Amino acid sequence: PKSVSYICFIGAGYVGGSTAAVLANQCPHIQVTVVDKNAERTKAWQSENLPVAETGLLDIVKVPRDGLRPSQRKNLHFTTEVEESIQQAEIIIVSVNTPTKAVGTGSGYLLDSSVLEDVVMCIARSARSNKIVVEKSTVPVGTGETVRDILRNNAHTGVKFEVLSNPEFLAEGTAVQNLLQPDRVLIGCLETKSGFLAAETFASVYATWIPRERIITMNLFSSELSKLAANALLAQRISSINALSIICEATGADIQQVAKAVGSDSRIGPHMLRASFGFGGSCFKKDIRSLVYLCKCLHLDDVAAYWEAILNINEKQKSRSVARIVSRFNNNMNGKKIAILGFAFKENTGDTRESCAIDLVKGFLHEGASVSIYDPLVQESQIREDLGIDCAADGGLDNRLTICQSGEEACTGAHGVLVATNWDTFRSLDWDHVARVMTYPRIVFGSSACLDPNVLESMGFTVEIIGKKVW
Ligand code: NAD
Ligand code: UDX
Repeated sequence: PKSVSYICFIGAGYVGGSTAAVLANQCPHIQVTVVDKNAERTKAWQSENLPVAETGLLDIVKVPRDGLRPSQRKNLHFTTEVEESIQQAEIIIVSVNTPTKAVGTGSGYLLDSSVLEDVVMCIARSARSNKIVVEKSTVPVGTGETVRDILRNNAHTGVKFEVLSNPEFLAEGTAVQNLLQPDRVLIGCLETKSGFLAAETFASVYATWIPRERIITMNLFSSELSKLAANALLAQRISSINALSIICEATGADIQQVAKAVGSDSRIGPHMLRASFGFGGSCFKKDIRSLVYLCKCLHLDDVAAYWEAILNINEKQKSRSVARIVSRFNNNMNGKKIAILGFAFKENTGDTRESCAIDLVKGFLHEGASVSIYDPLVQESQIREDLGIDCAADGGLDNRLTICQSGEEACTGAHGVLVATNWDTFRSLDWDHVARVMTYPRIVFGSSACLDPNVLESMGFTVEIIGKKVW
């Protein structure tokens, strides 16, 4: 395959920005440009305050961006100049957002690939030489065909395109590690001579730092579907363990012990079996819904229902968690205060997209409780936006909502505390102090991944653990 000297990413988000940074860091011989239409975001990538809070990312970004290696020129650039970047690049990686469609046919289920299609149109119109166009965004299965159509019908005379699929599997909080040492890289291509050659050219870039056997080439549509399938299977494990946690709470079995028992079977494995308030994050729900939509379009209603059940269990886990605490207060939360520790969708991130904490807080507010929230990374304005609470307009509710600067502050005067995100900092909270500042009945509710019930009970707390019966 041809050696590559210039790659352009379009979309400097979580995926585009982080992937470009690792690629530029590992491939000093390749010029990498990341284009975003959002000038503020582009500026943030050029600064010390990256738009993405990932451990180790700033160090990775700085080396190629600021030319920190003695012999190295700068090879990572963030810009809003889309046309010029497209023209220079041999490979264009599209990593724009593909949210669930909000209105019209398929709304609530179908991934909205209109932004991606606009970008592809822009590539077709700007390119003056042959390009490899890579779908990195998660897309509905079959999008590769649409992308090919747009490119073919809008290309300048003589300009040819190859379309590849290269879905991203990084998880937030561990993005750098996942990008440096991925379990696998998928490259989907058309099964033609030029398709295979394009895949090989792109694979040679990844092969700079990833063992060859981890770079898997397959057909375009297998690759598109594999992304949805991977997220559906990961989320399915969490819903399976959470569904079992309901049985545990009713029978006296302990979900942590059950997870250990089943996860010790090498065919099952231990990962993604931690019982929780449910899964959150920007990907699982939207990608499963996309899969459900695909099944419905194919008139596979029973298959659609099978995948959708993963989401139903996830919703149930949140509502029944609120109900469990409310029942502890004789179903009356008026005058009671609940502290919520952690508002992001998981630890080590400030991302709140689809966070379970949003529904938990709304549930307690709806029941009449006061709620105080602390998260180490999420800003007050973000929390209010996610809850849809406008301080000025919603006086009544706002009186019952406080955003705090520490876990201890949030717990002061609270009757119950719910650890919604398993941050280490909550594990090592000064729980003795918290016991003193809280109000009877001092209920602590969370996952055994973060809380030790024996220790907490000895301090005077009433402890409720997900997937464990209270005797
Ligand atoms: P994001 O919202 O963080 O970033 C998308 C970026 O694209 C934004 O900065 C936006 O300004 C930019 N953009 C939108 N339209 C543009 C245009 N016309 N020209 C240039 N830039 C434009 O999204 P993300 O989380 O990085 O996700 C991107 C894709 O990757 C999605 O399809 C998502 O499903 C998938 N994905 C995300 C994750 C994750 O953990 N976040 C993991 C795997 C896959
Ligand atoms: C996920 C996939 O893991 C990743 O491969 C894909 O590219 C994007 O979607 P992400 O959403 O960033 O990544 O985080 P992940 O670690 O998978 O956690 C998702 C949610 O599941 C979080 O709310 C987390 O707290 C929850 N979770 C995870 C559990 O409830 N139990 C577990 O055992 C693991």
